[in-house]
Amino acid sequence: MFSIDTYISRRTQLAASVEKGIILLMGNDESPMNYTDNTYHYRQDSSFLYFTGISHPGLALIIDAETNNVTLFGDDYTIDDIVWMGVQPTIASRAAKSGIKSTAPAASLKTVLQSAVSQGRPVHYLPPYRAANREKLSALLNTSVHEIPNGASLELVKAVVNQRNYKSDEEIVEIERAVNTTVEMHQAAMRMARPGMTESQIAAEVTRIAQAAGGQLSFPVIATINGQTLHNHYHGNTLEEGKLFLLDCGAETAMGYAGDMSSTFPVGKTFTEEQKTFYNIALAAHNKAISMLRPGIAFRDVHLEACRTIAQGMKDEGFLKGNVDDMVDLGVHAMFFPCGLGHMMGLDVHDMEDLGEVWVGYDGEPKSTMFGLKSLRLGRKLEPGFVLTIEPGIYFIPDLMKKWHDENRFKEFINYDKLFRYKDFGGMRNEEDFLITEDGARLLGKPLAKSVNEVEEERRKAFE
Ligand code: GLY
Ligand code: MN
Repeated sequence: MFSIDTYISRRTQLAASVEKGIILLMGNDESPMNYTDNTYHYRQDSSFLYFTGISHPGLALIIDAETNNVTLFGDDYTIDDIVWMGVQPTIASRAAKSGIKSTAPAASLKTVLQSAVSQGRPVHYLPPYRAANREKLSALLNTSVHEIPNGASLELVKAVVNQRNYKSDEEIVEIERAVNTTVEMHQAAMRMARPGMTESQIAAEVTRIAQAAGGQLSFPVIATINGQTLHNHYHGNTLEEGKLFLLDCGAETAMGYAGDMSSTFPVGKTFTEEQKTFYNIALAAHNKAISMLRPGIAFRDVHLEACRTIAQGMKDEGFLKGNVDDMVDLGVHAMFFPCGLGHMMGLDVHDMEDLGEVWVGYDGEPKSTMFGLKSLRLGRKLEPGFVLTIEPGIYFIPDLMKKWHDENRFKEFINYDKLFRYKDFGGMRNEEDFLITEDGARLLGKPLAKSVNEVEEERRKAFE
């Protein structure tokens, strides 16, 4: 945990930015996999973690926006719990570590909320993303479970986003710790992968490194020879010489802060000439984007410049024809790059996606609905303290080729005859994490091999 002062000042700022009523922050409960006591890895809600630092199931927090009084609701372990789970800190001692003086049993939460409602005081809560919390809120507020999402407080969403988007120095230290472990995960994969191994062997090793560092994964590992599928969680293939391997994985620290990186390397020692060509186009887009990072620039413009770099590169290789600016305006490049350049990162790998990308990444401006651009999670002007990823890629997606071809889509721009010859080529991306500073940006974590030469150097070590 950070110091008590950190959590007190975060809560004080939150109370001051919500005009009236009470703020209700719901913690996460254990989540069963296949029966109640067989649970998934426990993960506290990130906003609850941000404002309390307490990672423990069964809790809720009330902050009175008018008085700044704070109460933590939860139950101490019974002897039955202790027999199975061991002695745990009491709710009062957990609260004290967070600078919270008042605690109450979980059962009293409903009474407090109902009393606020009967006085006509607004109850501000965040949009629940877990069914269990939707049900709990429904019971607590005597509201139908279907109405609960509509009752979430936009005022509270904006207030939370406005705090969590700006990372403090102590958060940067923690994020950089996560990123450094993430770099080690990628280095290990680059140095162990050999033809004949399975994707699951690589996935297992990077998971081990994240856990051995005292935390967890920040999201399910993507470790695949089919990098053209953006979020490919299948790990059953065997690595073959001549293929590219794409790894997208990250560590989460014990305090819940995320790292998120991607690397692409040949299964053998070296890239083929064609792999090098596409890899260098994706890397040029990556480096171009990094060179533009600074306060005041709209991330949407950085994304569009990366798109133009990819479109120009694929035009130079004979896959596209026509004016590059027109292609990017129309979305032709999305054949190869159908997603966004990057996203905010913090306590969530896609930071605060549960609160809405329009608020986190667009400051309330509507998002584009165009294929490709609609998947850009961050478009707003950058500000010091933002932490974000840069992750352009080039993907050869057979079903997308077929669909656009059959629809005669962009046939004046796309050389489909050539493109279809690459339907088994796969996909590639590099991803790094950056802090926006007062006058530019800073790479977070140790540098990872990125150029063709650096990656091939790492790959040679794998075969020594
Ligand atoms: N690294 C996974 C993602 O950004 O979606
Ligand atoms: Mn990412």
